Amino acid sequence: MNEQFAQDVLRGLTAKNKYLSSKYFYDDNGSRIFQEIMHMPEYYLTNSEFEILSLQAKQIVDAIQFQQPFNIIELGAGDGFKTFKLLEYLVNNKIDFHYVPIDISQEAIETLSSKLLARLPNLSIQAKVGDYFEMLKDLKQSSTPSLLLFLGSNIGNYEEEQARELLMLFHQNMKKGDKLLIGIDLKKNPLTIQKAYLDDAGITKKFNLNLLLRINRELDADFKIDDFDFYSYYNPDTGDVKSYIVSLRNQKVHIGKLNKTIVFSYDELIWTELSKKYSLDDIDHLARENGFEIQENFLDCKHYFVDSLWEKTA
Ligand code: AVJ
Repeated sequence: MNEQFAQDVLRGLTAKNKYLSSKYFYDDNGSRIFQEIMHMPEYYLTNSEFEILSLQAKQIVDAIQFQQPFNIIELGAGDGFKTFKLLEYLVNNKIDFHYVPIDISQEAIETLSSKLLARLPNLSIQAKVGDYFEMLKDLKQSSTPSLLLFLGSNIGNYEEEQARELLMLFHQNMKKGDKLLIGIDLKKNPLTIQKAYLDDAGITKKFNLNLLLRINRELDADFKIDDFDFYSYYNPDTGDVKSYIVSLRNQKVHIGKLNKTIVFSYDELIWTELSKKYSLDDIDHLARENGFEIQENFLDCKHYFVDSLWEKTA
């Protein structure tokens, strides 16, 4: 993992157009900053999805139509705040299921487990720390029907081709009849989207610059983060939000563990994240081309966000 991080940083920072992968935002520190983002008024995604899972838990559960018991496997569970309402509904209605949240942050998953068990002592839960690609393989082994949760618009971080690969991987590891509830941020007024990523308080900036601090710490580098800024923009034609770290001066950064000095010019960018937005038509297409059938779309009242229920039918 650490070796992979080193290699990816080297490749990204020596490319002609520099880039770093947003998957590396989520060390324990980054996961904590992401909690702050989720509490920002501008970051509507969390509230919208929370509303869907709170007000439509019954409709969602009714649509799933599984024999009991079944599994709920959540990929990238984070602190699980939004999933709570769905779990609460299931537990209160004595529905027999087993919950398996998976996240790459040890701290996030521990917080999640203890918070959930404190509020839902009867919840059957087995949390796992790790990369979800690994965990998926267990799915097909079990004969219990499974609902995969991929919430929070995490799919937005993937470029078209990668999103297809990820969904194909889900599909391969699901049994016929298994379901996927996928949370996706919808295209909407461009300013609403723009503000969610270029917030006035600079929390998203802190989230991005934390990646440089992580490189300092783990790869023995000397990034001076005051010499970097943050920029993000939404392109309504493509649905892409792209985020960048900006070098505020000509500067050199030494990365000890890579034995490498990286040169940054004035205003040079490091591309850090894609947060892609979809229309309902885009989602139709995405499901169908990956072998899923959309069973039902659950939207919040503002129609900002959708939790789309897909079934593997063949
Ligand atoms: C957790 C990937 C859905 O892209 O909206 C929030 C991460 N980045 N603010 C997103 C994020 C900047 C978030 N996802």
